[in-house]
Amino acid sequence: MTLQLTTAGESHGPALVAILTGLPAGLVLDRAAIDADLRRRQQGYGRSPRQQLEQDEVEVLAGLRHGKTLGTPLALVVRNRDHKNWEWGMNPWPPEGEPSGKGTKPVTLPRPGHADLAGVLKYGHADVRDALERASARHTAVLVAAGSVAKALLAALRIEVAGTVLEIGGERDAWEAVIDSARADRDTLGGIVEVRATGVFPGLGSYATREERLDTRLAAALMGIQAVKGVEIGDGFALASVRGSAAHDEIEPGLRRRSNRAGGIEAGISNGEEIVVRAAMKPLPTLMRPLDSVDLATGEPAQALVERSDVAAVEAFAVVAEAVVSFELACVALEKLGGDALVDLLAAHRAYLERIQWPRTP
Ligand SMILES: Cc1cc2nc3c(=O)[nH]c(=O)nc-3n(C[C@H](O)[C@H](O)[C@H](O)COP(=O)(O)O)c2cc1C
Repeated sequence: MTLQLTTAGESHGPALVAILTGLPAGLVLDRAAIDADLRRRQQGYGRSPRQQLEQDEVEVLAGLRHGKTLGTPLALVVRNRDHKNWEWGMNPWPPEGEPSGKGTKPVTLPRPGHADLAGVLKYGHADVRDALERASARHTAVLVAAGSVAKALLAALRIEVAGTVLEIGGERDAWEAVIDSARADRDTLGGIVEVRATGVFPGLGSYATREERLDTRLAAALMGIQAVKGVEIGDGFALASVRGSAAHDEIEPGLRRRSNRAGGIEAGISNGEEIVVRAAMKPLPTLMRPLDSVDLATGEPAQALVERSDVAAVEAFAVVAEAVVSFELACVALEKLGGDALVDLLAAHRAYLERIQWPRTP
């Protein structure tokens, strides 16, 4: 058994939807905790005014009764409050009445770095909006809601996951200044985040197949977030330039390590140390001083689309990265331990830790 997540939703459509299957029955969910994660995703210096408008909240349509999972598909919805301004432009059905609000005119000015050009070519759209609406990182709201559910499952196994910002625009601090400066130049920034998972016991993931490797899965999950262009596990790229004697984590009595350069994963399996992963986000592609492009309607040189946008969203990205890492860890934990009911999962967890005598006293 494993967790599976299917999502749907456009940035300015009526809502974002997530269906999560494979959750054991009897897991207590806390609506306030999920909403708190949704709020965290909306915060951070350098966000667009849309974040004040949205104030995301989760709705549950199925799979939960009186706050406990039923072991049936869990259906989550996060409404787009901004949709009221796009009712004509993003109506799922042919809209009635005169065009009004936003999104009424076709977008023909693709932004370099966004889904715009590659998306319209691939899908045969005439309006760039038909590509950008789904590609937008608005979608990450439901990833965060699903990640919050995963965190509840991990908490039952005493695993905690936290994402933090390491750098914004190449700076390790003074982020407000670097963001203010980019905003003044009508430019954008990216950055680096780190996710750490503590309490992870050895044995999650597998070397048996490429798909089962925990490092494969974490890298794919992080790469699946919009704007991510690099992922490293543990010391990652830095390991390429040191000798083996300075790269590996020597084993001590108690089976703990003297260092954690591997970031808690060896041969695609958790080794009992903290899981440490980092991901790099490129600068956001919507610039208030637009980059050169071509008008797809005329074929003539033009400036790219300017649409309300964040200057930097690295703090939000840290929350999304935490969510997707949590989701993958919950998946591998369920694969390892199984269980239709949470009590079965916890019993399997206890039995496994007993078999491997974890944690060991040195
Ligand atoms: C949390 C978050 C917020 C984002 N906000 C914006 C934004 O306001 N404007 C923008 O142009 N791109 C934003 N992006 C990035 C784009 O969605 C992304 O660059 C685009 O979909 C193209 O995909 P790619 O960068 O993965 O190639 C954001 C990404 C994340 C993770």
